[in-house]
Amino acid sequence: MGQPTHGTSSQDSLTVKDNRTGKVYTIPIVDNAVSATAFKDIKAPRKPNERVENETEKGLRVQDKGFLNTAVMQSTITYIDGEAGVLHYRGYPIEQLAEKSSHLESAYLLIYGSLPTQPQYELFEREVLNHGVTHSDTAQFFRSFRYDAHPMSMLTSAFAMLGSYYSEANPSLQGQRLYTKGDAASLATMDRQIYRIIGKATTLAAMAYRIRQGREFVTPPTGLSYTASFLYQMDHIGEENYVPNPVLVKALDTLFLIHADHELNASCTTVLQTGSSLVDPYSAIAAGCASLYGPLHGGANEAVIRMLISIGKPENVPAFIEAVKRREKTLSGFGHRVYKTSDPRSFIVRKTADEVFKVTGQDQLLETAMALHDAAMKDEYFIKRRLAPNVDFWSGLIYRAMGFPLDFFPVLFAVPRVVGWLAHWRQMMLQEGGVKIWRPRQVYVGETKRDFVPVEDRVAVEGPKQTPSKVQHGGISKRTQLASYKSKL
Ligand code: ACO
Repeated sequence: MGQPTHGTSSQDSLTVKDNRTGKVYTIPIVDNAVSATAFKDIKAPRKPNERVENETEKGLRVQDKGFLNTAVMQSTITYIDGEAGVLHYRGYPIEQLAEKSSHLESAYLLIYGSLPTQPQYELFEREVLNHGVTHSDTAQFFRSFRYDAHPMSMLTSAFAMLGSYYSEANPSLQGQRLYTKGDAASLATMDRQIYRIIGKATTLAAMAYRIRQGREFVTPPTGLSYTASFLYQMDHIGEENYVPNPVLVKALDTLFLIHADHELNASCTTVLQTGSSLVDPYSAIAAGCASLYGPLHGGANEAVIRMLISIGKPENVPAFIEAVKRREKTLSGFGHRVYKTSDPRSFIVRKTADEVFKVTGQDQLLETAMALHDAAMKDEYFIKRRLAPNVDFWSGLIYRAMGFPLDFFPVLFAVPRVVGWLAHWRQMMLQEGGVKIWRPRQVYVGETKRDFVPVEDRVAVEGPKQTPSKVQHGGISKRTQLASYKSKL
């Protein structure tokens, strides 16, 4: 395994001259990165009339809205080369893993750093599958949701709920060093939570699905793989010897594998940010789910299908593309913060789609998707901005062909992604020097200090963003509006 190089020669540094003071600073470069805190040493006297909130004399701040070029971790887990369209888990190309490995084997690789031997894999698989069963009270929890609750809301809440069952896994109750000691007992506690979270992810997801279908819940079966067990738990309604279709099991497993990790994306960063307070892993994973749910991230696969349905047929594609260019619409499933050529996972998804369509039949939106893809790839707007299809552009079509409801798509993303979140969380808990709470800085541009104004002296500040909006109250009938009662405004 290659080792990172450390900048020791004097050339491995930046010479920075502060033109405000004429002072020169040398800032070391290590692994092609400079430390943001080194810039804090660059101080200057505050200029006359300069805002005190700039804190100029306290040191320079590094501003990076949206983390465009800020590295917050040293990691050995996943490598992405966005220019070349490359994705490696622990050094192994995603294409090789998708062809030769399984989701659970790759999970072992992501979390523990190497491909497991047969006995190592068997132990890991057994632990994960054994931890699939949830407390019987979980059924009550799912039944408390409205009949039309979004499955992602249920899954997010379910992970947080799960934490309440394991007081021994909660650093707030057991001591804040529960996961950071790195000794055998601490590692065992950590690994038990990892087995539980991966094992129960499919169970909770299947429960979120079944509550929407009005079906009783199914205990995780024995003798099936992780992915087959998931399909069984979703679909089994009492048939004897029910076995999910092997082509669909394999396809879903491949999709799980390629969704398992993607380094410091929005949801993984959320898990680490939340975990940096040393909260229990269930709360951190719930936070990750919440972040993943957004349409710019894991909600994009659902958004793609809604977009394709709204376009309807290939003939409507040109008008849609023009609306995107006028910024009236978003082309969901296109563009990526890191990939600027192609997302390597999108090719694997295309191949998997062909396998699935052979058994399910082709999705009727495929033609519209192809027309949209081809039109966007030829259009100057998308070429100039280097926008290519991401994994979500095609994955939704497979999920639809497999008969999953649209709002279940983000769940199908979250279930495998708990693996990546846990791998990064574990890495952070065990990193050298301990865990530092993630507390970014801000550039304060608001009002400078001012004195309180008594109510009778205030001048109303008006404007849509400056005053609370008026809202219609749902569920208030004409009769209630016409009624009179004490304190009616
Ligand atoms: N459709 C139309 N225009 C787009 C799109 C898109 N899908 N994506 C980016 N652009 C445009 C932006 O408007 C911007 O144009 P401008 O420079 O003229 O203002 C330019 O391309 C750069 O885009 P940014 O938004 O600055 O890129 P950023 O890295 O911040 O965002 C993101 C990346 C959020 C993925 C964005 O491309 C997007 O919104 N895509 C659609 C949603 C999507 O598919 N999300 C899934 C991401 S993959 C995943 O989570 C698995």
